[in-house]
Amino acid sequence: MKALVLSGGTGSRLRPLTYTSAKQLIPVANKPILFYGLEAIRDAGITEVGIIVGDTRREVMEAVGDGTAFGLRVTYIPQDAPRGLAHAVLTAEEFINGEPFLMYLGDNLLRDGVAAFAQRFREDSAEALILLSRVSDPQRFGVAELEGSRVVRLVEKPREPKSDLALVGVYLFDRHIFEAARSIRPSERGELEITDAIQHLIDRGRRVESVHVNGWWKDTGKPEDVLDANRLLLEHLEPAVRGSVDPSSRLVGRVVVEEGARVVDSEVRGPSIIGAGARVENSYVGPYTAIGRNVTVRGSEVECSVVMEDSQILDLGTRITDSLIGRGVTVCRSPERPRAVRLVLGDHSWAGMP
Ligand code: TTP
Repeated sequence: MKALVLSGGTGSRLRPLTYTSAKQLIPVANKPILFYGLEAIRDAGITEVGIIVGDTRREVMEAVGDGTAFGLRVTYIPQDAPRGLAHAVLTAEEFINGEPFLMYLGDNLLRDGVAAFAQRFREDSAEALILLSRVSDPQRFGVAELEGSRVVRLVEKPREPKSDLALVGVYLFDRHIFEAARSIRPSERGELEITDAIQHLIDRGRRVESVHVNGWWKDTGKPEDVLDANRLLLEHLEPAVRGSVDPSSRLVGRVVVEEGARVVDSEVRGPSIIGAGARVENSYVGPYTAIGRNVTVRGSEVECSVVMEDSQILDLGTRITDSLIGRGVTVCRSPERPRAVRLVLGDHSWAGMP
């Protein structure tokens, strides 16, 4: 079995971060989202992986390399434009070469990985196996209708959903999916939809089976999803201090202080992680916070947030919470008069004032 990881796309809902960076490389608990997926694929016993890449291909290729670091053999497959998940499948036809494969959306995270589902597909004689998770807002997702475990209908973002079973971003297919993807037309939003391709399989009498995902699943399409994923992953944190913590500082609960990081005159409450080379000084870092590599937090309070590498939070008079802060960002107190908020924000930025 091979794997196909989708790491192209537009990432419009994560602007402005995605103007300069691939959304799949946004870190949660200080590790790029995509890496969790690659590790899950390896743990499912798959080594041949094709990665669909788009405009951000250089960055993805630099981060993942030839896959050796993950125990994988990686082939990069450029997609000319984000024309939909089924278009991505067609783009990879030569790489897949008729074998069964596991397709993984590179911005999805599953607590329990994908090994059980790959195994089930290896043993089953279905032409496709989809993963489902119960959600409270099915209008946002592809939704499945079932007879037993067999899928009878799939609808993309239904206005009036017939079930609360959302399609998780992991699918198992055999070669029949290619013919199905070739037979469908672009949807209203101009994409070749994977739900339409699977529906085509169903309409031709192919067996499409489903399985429920028990552990949490997260699609990190929007900023609040990234923060949620960060929170869920930090719940599994094993405390460790590889950097330095001075005697006037206090670590409470499960905290990781990475190599070369320094905590000075501060309180850090877990679960939270302070990245390599970061400096936390005269500050409070609260639960569910990931402070990236070489970040400085000085005279400030931060919690429930992701702060990416090389950023600085300096001498703020107010606490930062539920925030997603990109790379090389400075948030600081401005002493100039008149007293006012001064901002340099990129397009599609968002700032919430007290
Ligand atoms: P989406 O989140 O559905 O799409 P997107 O990345 O374009 O985001 P937005 O809607 O915010 O603009 O994509 C799911 C995953 O599949 C994601 O990792 C990107 C990837 N993808 C491709 O590789 N090629 C494609 O043609 C599409 C649509 C997505």
